[in-house]
Amino acid sequence: MEFEIIKKTPLYKALSELGKRIYLPQGVFSWAGRAKKEAEIMGTLGSAFGYEKDFIEGGTSEWLPCYLEDIKNYTKFNINEIVPYSKISGLEELKTIWKNWIIEKSLINKTVEKERLNRLENYISTPVITSGLTNGIFLCCSLFLNSGDYVISTNKRWGNYDNIIEKLLGAKIKSFEFFIKSKFNVQGLKDAIYEVSKIQEKIVLILGFPNNPTGYIPIKEELKEIINVLRLAQKEISKPIIVLIDDAYEPYIYSSNVINRSIFYDLHDLEEDIIPIKIDGITKEFLMYGGRIGFVTIGLKPNWVNSEEELYILKTEINNKLSGLIRTTISNSNHFYQSLIINLFKDVGTDGLIKKRDKVKALLKERYEKINAELRKIKNSDISVDPNAGGFFVFVNLNPKKFLANDFADHLLKKYKVGVIPIEKPSDNINGIRIAYCSIDLTQITEFVNRINLALLDY
Ligand SMILES: Cc1ncc(COP(=O)(O)O)c(C=O)c1O
Repeated sequence: MEFEIIKKTPLYKALSELGKRIYLPQGVFSWAGRAKKEAEIMGTLGSAFGYEKDFIEGGTSEWLPCYLEDIKNYTKFNINEIVPYSKISGLEELKTIWKNWIIEKSLINKTVEKERLNRLENYISTPVITSGLTNGIFLCCSLFLNSGDYVISTNKRWGNYDNIIEKLLGAKIKSFEFFIKSKFNVQGLKDAIYEVSKIQEKIVLILGFPNNPTGYIPIKEELKEIINVLRLAQKEISKPIIVLIDDAYEPYIYSSNVINRSIFYDLHDLEEDIIPIKIDGITKEFLMYGGRIGFVTIGLKPNWVNSEEELYILKTEINNKLSGLIRTTISNSNHFYQSLIINLFKDVGTDGLIKKRDKVKALLKERYEKINAELRKIKNSDISVDPNAGGFFVFVNLNPKKFLANDFADHLLKKYKVGVIPIEKPSDNINGIRIAYCSIDLTQITEFVNRINLALLDY
């Protein structure tokens, strides 16, 4: 593959050395494809196949992947839906389902906003399937970051970003303070972009709302400001801005004051070289944490191509690069769970799935309201709760002059038998506890917060 079209785009400029180098060699696949069409007897497939009756007593004459008969006791799925390898970038049917789901999640009204819908339908890459969001984040970071390159992120973020970016890839995180007076610190974001632009030919950001650990989601005004800063900065620095959007908690929005969908959509609408990459999956969205199915979808710009044919080639090239990364790391994702999601979407439908998930969302919303109300009752100037409107968590900041988060969490656990996750990172100006209210029953929240209050008083 020549990568003719992608080479002309700002996306290519932003790729890491690995991102530029990686591709999926066609060798095995092209021989297998040719054999399927041309061969009378196939000896290309690296999985054991046979007539079922030859490997299972009482089996049929069907030509099937060889399997252990007992696995049928655990599933209603057809053997072909669970035993064979999935395609490297995922089952085509699921990729199409998820692409439509991404479009549906945009909430764009089909009659009024036809143009925007058209842009979304045509100018996003076909999602590739990864082993959960973590793998998707790793894959995207590898695609864009050389060792020593910077990614910009809020100081409060999912701790695994640090593991992936700094420990695994040897890249660096440029943190900025998340909030100034309980508002998103737009100036901090701007400063970080300008600083990194002095030493790098691209900007890579990682953002996700609802955020872990704070539960923060921007209000409309804040999103406008974030977008303005990105647009202005991109114009001035003339370098591509890649925005990795971690949409792990996408549907869990409990307040009507904040934006009601992923920031992917607004960034995708921009003409500038601000390139959003959506990383989402079934983990939290469909409450299947162990299913390990995630998706990576890249927002493309209409001005990158001159024809439908070029657009098609561009998507093929992107898919090839992502497939190269998947092939060399996980090879392909869990087939069983891919089949399960396909069947869920077909049998229950998106309306049905949303309706069923709404029960869980209502449960979480009650807890969100309760925990915020209880925390507000604590009158203690040494603590503050970060703005939050969704997701699974709230974050309580502790005055570092009075409390050290790790010691406080230890005290809370030992004396009051209450478990929280402390985050103590003086270099990033963080000292506080993350409360996962997603896993506390409503009836226990008052007691939970009471104990925190007592622990604050006798620390
Ligand atoms: C913000 C965020 N992103 C990604 C993930 C990981 O998702 P997955 O389990 O699908 O790898 C988590 C999990 O806790 C998370 O909190």
